[in-house]
Amino acid sequence: MRAGKEPLSALLFGSEQMSPSPAIVLEKFNMLGFSSPLLLAPLAGYSDAPFRLLCRSLGAGLCVSEMISAQAIIYRQKKTCDMLRFFAAERPVSLQLFGADPGIMAEAAAFISGLANEARPDFIDLNMGCPVKKVTKKGAGVALMATPSLAETIIRQVCQVTDIAVTVKIRAGINATDRGAVEFAKMAEGAGAKAVAVHGRTWAQQFSGQADWSVVAAVKRALRIPVIGNGDIASRDEAFLRLDESGCDAVMIGRAALKNPFLFHECGEAPLAEIVRFALRHLDLALAYGQAIAPLRMRLAAYFHDFRGSSQIRCQLVACATETELRAALMTIAKAITETAAVNGAVIS
Ligand SMILES: Cc1cc2nc3c(=O)[nH]c(=O)nc-3n(C[C@H](O)[C@H](O)[C@H](O)COP(=O)(O)O)c2cc1C
Repeated sequence: MRAGKEPLSALLFGSEQMSPSPAIVLEKFNMLGFSSPLLLAPLAGYSDAPFRLLCRSLGAGLCVSEMISAQAIIYRQKKTCDMLRFFAAERPVSLQLFGADPGIMAEAAAFISGLANEARPDFIDLNMGCPVKKVTKKGAGVALMATPSLAETIIRQVCQVTDIAVTVKIRAGINATDRGAVEFAKMAEGAGAKAVAVHGRTWAQQFSGQADWSVVAAVKRALRIPVIGNGDIASRDEAFLRLDESGCDAVMIGRAALKNPFLFHECGEAPLAEIVRFALRHLDLALAYGQAIAPLRMRLAAYFHDFRGSSQIRCQLVACATETELRAALMTIAKAITETAAVNGAVIS
């Protein structure tokens, strides 16, 4: 294990790091103060500190944490409190809370707010869009869109106890006939939210069908605060197209970033050699952060796709049982790329 040999920041910001995108200066998303309008969406089980740092280093304007249980924060559950940690180089940082009890949500926000400066995030995001049963059956996540007055109380009470900017992530609505995003977002703005993110699917859709970006555009037209659009963005080009078409201030990218985090970088897609380097950096950071190999190997394998032999590489990586095996498999891929390039007379970037 590499932990302790060098500071975490050095693992990522060493000499071989790709340079981040130059700050793109667009008046509209400067309302949010981000260096890029392409943001990493909150992804439970994925948008942890190592992955967020990697995406930020590639140029993502902001990376939102996995949803964190407000109740578990109140109980000071260790695993949950660990989820509040982030790297200084991640800033700006957004930590997402979920829960349905205004008092508990406010207490959790007050706890975060009372942390030492270096541990305080720049944003507290309130999850009002998660459709997972475990969450909605307790009235949290997108279920709050069905109880707007409770949602409003939560936003107001959280805003009252913290000076950290509060944002809210919602969906297009409950179902096809009850698409209440515009009204709900206006309520959030009135209650004190500093920005609203809209995933263009309804609760009923879960993850099926397609995100409806006309809802994002409608919310943008109705609000004065910044609006972040989200749903089904598959590439960097598509991200800028969605920004343009919907008029929103920034876009959040979720699933596509798990396969291709380079969409945050101006290159959009990276050569295979760079992907291997990125996977090795992810491995180093995740191990230094104490993460287990089993879920990690799946995540690293996901970076290899859509080229001849990629499924074979994924199988090899997923079969690795230890850090040593995983590192060796990645080094073998790197060597094969170098040899192939030498045979073809290509220059390795
Ligand atoms: C594995 C997974 C975990 C997610 N976890 C969260 C979460 O913790 N909080 C949240 O607000 N949304 C969560 N989402 C929803 C995403 O943030 C995003 O809204 C959704 O995936 C649509 O964006 P995409 O098409 O770019 O993936 C999750 C989605 C996935 C696939």
